[in-house]
Amino acid sequence: MTTTLTASAQAARGPVRFPSDFRWGLATASYQIEGAVAEDGRTPSIWDTFSRVPGAVAGGDTGDVACDHYHRMADDVALMAGLGAGWYRFSVAWPRVRPDGGAPNPAGIGFYDRLVDELLAHEIAPWLTLYHWDLPQVLEDAGGWTVRDTVDRFVEYAVTVHEALGDRVPVWTTLNEPWCSAFLGYTSGRHAPGRRDGAAGMRAAHHLMLAHGLATTELRGRGAETLGVTLNLTVADPADPEDPADVDAARRVDALHNRMFLEPIRSGAYPADLLTDTEHLGWTDVVREGDLTAISAPIDVLGVNYYHGDAVSAEPGPDPDGRSPFPGLEQMWMPKRDLPLTAMGWEVQPEGLTRLLVRLHDEHPGLPLVVTENGAAYDDVVGPDGEVDDTERLAYFDSHLRAVHAAREAGADVRGYFAWSMMDNFEWAEGYAKRFGLVHVDYPTQRRTPKASARWYAEVCRTGRLPGGEG
Ligand code: FCB
Repeated sequence: MTTTLTASAQAARGPVRFPSDFRWGLATASYQIEGAVAEDGRTPSIWDTFSRVPGAVAGGDTGDVACDHYHRMADDVALMAGLGAGWYRFSVAWPRVRPDGGAPNPAGIGFYDRLVDELLAHEIAPWLTLYHWDLPQVLEDAGGWTVRDTVDRFVEYAVTVHEALGDRVPVWTTLNEPWCSAFLGYTSGRHAPGRRDGAAGMRAAHHLMLAHGLATTELRGRGAETLGVTLNLTVADPADPEDPADVDAARRVDALHNRMFLEPIRSGAYPADLLTDTEHLGWTDVVREGDLTAISAPIDVLGVNYYHGDAVSAEPGPDPDGRSPFPGLEQMWMPKRDLPLTAMGWEVQPEGLTRLLVRLHDEHPGLPLVVTENGAAYDDVVGPDGEVDDTERLAYFDSHLRAVHAAREAGADVRGYFAWSMMDNFEWAEGYAKRFGLVHVDYPTQRRTPKASARWYAEVCRTGRLPGGEG
């Protein structure tokens, strides 16, 4: 199947300019960069446990040390300041702040307190995510996201973080990519906690959404002004648009990837087709009266993470142990089209980002959008001088920023963009082998070296402009 570029994305090779109030940022997540997993009272998260399961993470890597950011935070913030972005999106580690999901831990909170002060001192605005996948292991042992108690523990944790930082943090994101937490964590088992159960994935998704809604209302009551959630949404195209089976599989993926998360938030109901598709799993026993109203608490911003689009085929995939992450949709796969691939094997499809943002705007008018993650892993080569000339990553950022610009031109209310990631880090099941950073990290020495893409992005942040003429 061929992909058609929108006229605006195709035309976009000249210079383009973003408005002066467009927010430019860098993003990371706690477990991926902090290390120091047993310091100052932090207790294990599901990723500490999962990364020790043989075969779960490439190379047997763990986040024990990661980028050692916990000990290098001030230097990292200074480095960031040199990279020009006005915003930094980071996540707080629940097992630092309320170890074992229990009482608040002042030493753990202190780290984020210092981080926020350090950012503000460098005129970088903090964009805080409460949950980027590091659930306290003790809570998983008690059922994790499949049980309701975890929702209550999350709201308590959110309140603790807000009490400590609410006076200085302007934007609060409840969850990062609940699709991944629920379906990679509990259905395909590719992420922590590594369970493989369709119904468990659906129950986890509902509890994550409920945790989002209840925490949003609680923090709103405590004065938080800008609240939102970050979703990884996809453009699901049927592999063969003429094949009704592929068209239906794409619809189901759209339901489980996009509408399952968007519609309850926006209109207080799960999509009817999703309920029908998943009825046999019997997961709705966890949905109680009032839950959907709680989930539909108003939000001020929708964070959109986008890396690639997907072609959806109803055929069984070539991998006999395919482990589809879509509950109730075991027989499907996502064949690769004639598009360039990143080192993750992800298709480079910038026009999909334009389509996604325009669709979100059309279907949810009045909801400001921010791209909270976008970026690419490539096999970086470190030159003899220690420099990394990552032209492919630079081109990826350029094409996706043009796609964001095209969406804005088409009317989508996109107010900011965060590059993933500020530096190379622990890429979940891929370990350290996959590098997404603007800054190269030499793990044995922890030396940080900005790549060519970092210098390019700094200039984009400074000028609000993408230079033209190179394509
Ligand atoms: C997203 C995650 C982020 C990072 C990127 C590559 O799904 O939110 O932590 O791993 O993928």
